[in-house]
Amino acid sequence: MDANNKDLSNFSAKTPTVFYGGDYNPDQWPEEVWLEDVQLMREARVNLVSLGIFSWARLEPVQGQYDFDWLDRIMNLLHRNGVMVDLATATASPPAWLALQYPESLPVTKDGTTLWPGSRQQYCPHSKAYREAAALLVSQIATRYRNHPALVMWHINNEYACHVSECFCDASAAAFREWLRQRYGSLERLNDAWGTSFWSQHYADWAEINPPRTTPTQINPTQQLDWQRFCSDSILECFQLERDILRGITPAIPVTTNFMGFFKPLDYWKWAGREDIVSDDAYPDPSDSTSHVDTAMRFDLMRSLGQGKSWILMEQVTSQVNWRPQNVLKRPGQMRMWSYQAVARGANGIMFFQWRASRSGAEKFHGALVPHVGTTNSRVWREVKQLGQELSQLSEVLYSRVTAEVAILMDWESWWALEIPSKPSTSISFINQVKAYYAPLFAKNIPVDFVSPESDLSKYRVVLLPNLYLVKESTAQRLNQFVAGGGKLVMSFFSGIVNEEDHIYLGCYPAPFREMLGIRVEEFDPYVPGQTNSINLAGYGEYKCELWSDVIDLEGAEALATYGSDFYAGKPALTRYHYGKGVSYYLGTQPEAAAMSLLLARVCAEAGVKPTLAVPEGVEVVRRETGDSAYLFLINHNNTNVEITLDQPASNLLSQKNESVEAASLISLEGYGVAILASKISNPGIDQPVMGNK
Ligand code: GAL
Repeated sequence: MDANNKDLSNFSAKTPTVFYGGDYNPDQWPEEVWLEDVQLMREARVNLVSLGIFSWARLEPVQGQYDFDWLDRIMNLLHRNGVMVDLATATASPPAWLALQYPESLPVTKDGTTLWPGSRQQYCPHSKAYREAAALLVSQIATRYRNHPALVMWHINNEYACHVSECFCDASAAAFREWLRQRYGSLERLNDAWGTSFWSQHYADWAEINPPRTTPTQINPTQQLDWQRFCSDSILECFQLERDILRGITPAIPVTTNFMGFFKPLDYWKWAGREDIVSDDAYPDPSDSTSHVDTAMRFDLMRSLGQGKSWILMEQVTSQVNWRPQNVLKRPGQMRMWSYQAVARGANGIMFFQWRASRSGAEKFHGALVPHVGTTNSRVWREVKQLGQELSQLSEVLYSRVTAEVAILMDWESWWALEIPSKPSTSISFINQVKAYYAPLFAKNIPVDFVSPESDLSKYRVVLLPNLYLVKESTAQRLNQFVAGGGKLVMSFFSGIVNEEDHIYLGCYPAPFREMLGIRVEEFDPYVPGQTNSINLAGYGEYKCELWSDVIDLEGAEALATYGSDFYAGKPALTRYHYGKGVSYYLGTQPEAAAMSLLLARVCAEAGVKPTLAVPEGVEVVRRETGDSAYLFLINHNNTNVEITLDQPASNLLSQKNESVEAASLISLEGYGVAILASKISNPGIDQPVMGNK
């Protein structure tokens, strides 16, 4: 394997098919159980386990004294039974001795509270003692298992920052000062960037600067923004520390660390570029009838973070979790359906937390592949076996990819800056704004990629900007050029407001985009909760809007919608402007979903972007392609039967008999049913639909 080009498609040659398995914690069980485990793994066609994630205290019970015998035995046993290992570096939860010997390794909250051992993740990412102990453990593990035939992947730490995303201790304060020195070079630059002439905040010595600890009132926003950048970067340093050790010892083994979807504390664009395989943990709530939309959205983010490469669904649950107030069961078929949602959107691995349900501890009521009730006569186990059997037959989809012509710009720095208080409104949630764009496109089965401010936009026809509050000048220029060159762009209110130092772009909002949009925004009018207004959408009637109104003046653009009431009634709420060869849209408010849907349908039609297939409501369609083969995933999120019209023959890879589907015939999908229709592309490389109804 080429160490510089490790991705899943490279090493999946070693694996028969889609990865299937989960977190395996054999150290919670007597060894007799291990034999049953491997026999059941074979039965369920489990081919990969994530091993030892929380085993530090077992591997190094006393500082510097390692016990690998049990891990040797289970690694060998797994290998003999054809199960590959995603071996953990085990650094996610330090043993209690670390806290006892190095109390300064414990994290401290904003108000000075120490977080003690007794749960997990109790370490400060800046702690020298933690980093040194973690590095030693990783070297020991990597050296011992470097040539073990079961080892196919490294699982670095676990869900970085899940519980502790920032630490305010003195070591962290010192690290923050150092990070600021690197960023600004001089106190003069820092004072300027932070705008410290305000409220007597000027700094004359680096030692005067602190993390944004609890203060009397609003903290300097640029200080907060830099703190978020710093925290993401310093936790990334912990990851890199481990990764570099592993690269040195096992250059050919790919590394991953499991992400958590749209996780605010960590700028995953920076992270994803530093790992070989993107992986994600997703726990959609079965009690929420729209959770599959959020899940699709995060899966698209995962694919995009890996620049289109395959990724792994590293954790999900077979049925119910134990950490919600009420932990609703997945209904029969729902786990299978949601697993295929991941495969459809680019996953090459379907994994779970955890293999066997624990007898004790905080997660004993968390679902597993092997439930407490056992495997005989258990619904969960039957579903686990069925899915394992099906995935084992799906190797041909491994190399295919999803292509999108619509991109949503997703920038962590802008997200952080947008949600720092002291804004006109604290009710704007970046993720809700992203969803407002994503959901109508999902409903129409229009594929979407997420892009970073640095991404190449040239392959997209449409770029969507939900609340790009903070934007660098260079990014603004690239977005303007995208439109000038013929792209279609839609921007929401409160975008293009500040630069990367959170300083206002003067010259009327949104100054960096005014020329491209053909408008100016004179005032913002945030709404109180429950307050609404309306917009008159030319040709379509009146729709409710909420959250916010921009008071907009046209400077060349046309108004596609106007406000229904208030002192700005009749003024533009939605505008459209020809700029260069392209078209820009600006939306000054948050309209109800039906109006968002109309707007996006119009923009897509104008850009020539078509839905993957016209299907009944509640059916998700995703197309993956490779060479001359296409795979159309049809996923029925309804709990009732639907019928879908096809106009080209295709075989359903999931049907028992693998029968062909006749041209122009109907395919019937039961509630929560899934079909994967494989077909040949007659002109590979030419953008052409395989299925009809476009
Ligand atoms: C994840 C975590 C697992 C397990 C799981 C329970 O956040 O990585 O270790 O705790 O949640 O749903």
